[in-house]
Amino acid sequence: MRISVHDARHPDSIGKQAIIRGWVRTRRDSKGGFSFIEVNDGSSLGGLQVIADATLANYESEVKKLTTGSSVTIAGEIKPSGGKGQATELLASSVEVHGWADAEAYPLQKKQHSLEKLREWAHLRPRTNTFGAVARLRNCISRSIHNFFQEDGFLYVNTPIITASDCEGAGAMFRVTTLDLEKLPKVDGKVDNSQDFFQKPAYLTVSGQLEGEIFACALGKIYTFGPTFRAENSNTSRHLAEFWMVEPEVAFNDLDDNMTLAERFLKRMFSDALSQCGEDLKFFNEHVDTTTIATLEKLATSEFRRISYTEAISILETCGEKFDYPVSWGCDLQSEHERYLTEKKFDGPVILYDYPRSLKPFYMRVNDDGKTVRAMDVLVPKVGEIIGGSQREERLEVIEGRMAEQHLNPADYWWYLDLRRFGTVPHAGFGLGLERAVQFISGMANIRDVIPFPRTPGSAEF
Ligand code: 4AD
Ligand code: MG
Repeated sequence: MRISVHDARHPDSIGKQAIIRGWVRTRRDSKGGFSFIEVNDGSSLGGLQVIADATLANYESEVKKLTTGSSVTIAGEIKPSGGKGQATELLASSVEVHGWADAEAYPLQKKQHSLEKLREWAHLRPRTNTFGAVARLRNCISRSIHNFFQEDGFLYVNTPIITASDCEGAGAMFRVTTLDLEKLPKVDGKVDNSQDFFQKPAYLTVSGQLEGEIFACALGKIYTFGPTFRAENSNTSRHLAEFWMVEPEVAFNDLDDNMTLAERFLKRMFSDALSQCGEDLKFFNEHVDTTTIATLEKLATSEFRRISYTEAISILETCGEKFDYPVSWGCDLQSEHERYLTEKKFDGPVILYDYPRSLKPFYMRVNDDGKTVRAMDVLVPKVGEIIGGSQREERLEVIEGRMAEQHLNPADYWWYLDLRRFGTVPHAGFGLGLERAVQFISGMANIRDVIPFPRTPGSAEF
């Protein structure tokens, strides 16, 4: 019977006849006329030790030539193992080689490669322990996200990837076109868009929020979960040009409800990672960041601090810490400020709310003070902002004023404004960057190492 390496490693498999299929990690020949072959198929962190001996017909001709990276099918009996860190091993009765990997040419040799180097081999890095663990953790978090919302009665809505509207109003959009813009006829110095595929400029979406609001304002509780794109020229360890975002949106929720939802959501994600991905988290804890598990255990139960932007500024102004960027009311918080709040001041997640209106997009609800909007950012140690969200502006005349303030053309958002014209309701939502979540939970330092194929300025190889 074919079984996974994960199942073959379990003591319940002892005594079974099994067939495993995977890739050779290492081969070691013993003087006694047999070899130890470690095989992995990606189903678990550790591989399965296989013992192949000279009774195999192809022992000399093939088994003793197996190299790291070769692919094999091995049949045999699962036995108890006396080896350290493994309960079982497979005594091979046949070894079939599918594909050889030339030891000279195969990049993933036994030695440790740097994470930077492994990025150049995005087609092979899933075969390493680190990237196998990241892939399994990412899968576990994605499942947890769907489970959380599905169990809570949210509807999963698919919002478009190609869109005409700039949700964040930040102008960081990738244009989608079939035209050679250089060669196009221009009218008044501007490209004639009527000849383009959509007969108007179209872009890759930066967020599914605006379309998500349409569904929340009809069906109550919804979430989107899909790829989003930002053409920001940010070469940092926390920014990607293509990343996955989860965006719940709830009709009749206010900012407090939104903060409570975000906190419940993150805690569920942390506890699911702990209970379902224990082996991989142990690996991250040993090899990447020794505080990973303790931090998750603490956060899964302790309360998140909630402080207003104004309070945060006064803490930062008076704390005596020397910052590269000095703070004052109205400034955007830099990562050094976020780190001070989450790592030094509160030693845990912090939800900041009520930001200055000038810092935030047009759709956030304006507070009675006229100066701030009902925004919230969830900050976590090391990663900084993991969630951004707000209560939405549901009043037509106020949102029209905000659009004018930000030089947005209301005609481009006519359908969004209709939601305020016909049966408007208070509503709120947020966006979680999946990669920031995987980064935080694994402790991996660079966001490029928690997405299978990172897209960053100057890099789109695969
Ligand atoms: O704060 P942001 O820009 O908020 C929005 O897009 C809202 N429309 C969401 C909403 O209310 N529905 O982005 C939300 C989150 C950030 O907190 C961060 O986790 C992640 O998306 N994010 C990025 N992750 C990786 N690379 C980037 N360039 C990111 N930009 C934002
Ligand atoms: Mg944000």
